[in-house]
Amino acid sequence: MDVLVINGPNLNTLGTREPEVYGTTTLPEIEAALIAQGAAAGLSVDTFQSNHEGAIVDRLHEARADGTRFVIINPGAYAHTSVALRDAFAAVALPFIEVHISNVHAREEFRKHSYLSDLAAGVLFGFGTHGYHLAMDYVILRLVDDSGGQRVPA
Ligand code: DQA
Repeated sequence: MDVLVINGPNLNTLGTREPEVYGTTTLPEIEAALIAQGAAAGLSVDTFQSNHEGAIVDRLHEARADGTRFVIINPGAYAHTSVALRDAFAAVALPFIEVHISNVHAREEFRKHSYLSDLAAGVLFGFGTHGYHLAMDYVILRLVDDSGGQRVPA
């Protein structure tokens, strides 16, 4: 797969979870739309969601070996807590975009720090679920458009 989309804890409840913060779109709807967006540009997209930190670390390790070229991740609360996730990104050295649906800088103080952001190719927050698609646009730009339609290494 060219692009791996990872969603962390509680994001499986999108659609019903605090809709005033996260909207009403469900995770399966987001994932299907991202797969279609990638496919339209000739990119294959795999999706993964887990509520468990170690499972996300394991999936990232697999990504190093399975041909993944770019990762889009909404780490959920692990952004603010997980040194293990940071170390996993450093270990696999895959380019990634960090996405948050809500504007984490307009919320509680503890949401303003992310262990991942300085390692990310870019960070999107506050655009609602459009943030995932803006991230995919950038991945398409990097992997397809920049090369005049040729597939290029990230
Ligand atoms: C979130 C923001 C995090 O602070 C929170 O813990 C989440 C969702 C977002 O998408 O806005 O679970 O990552």
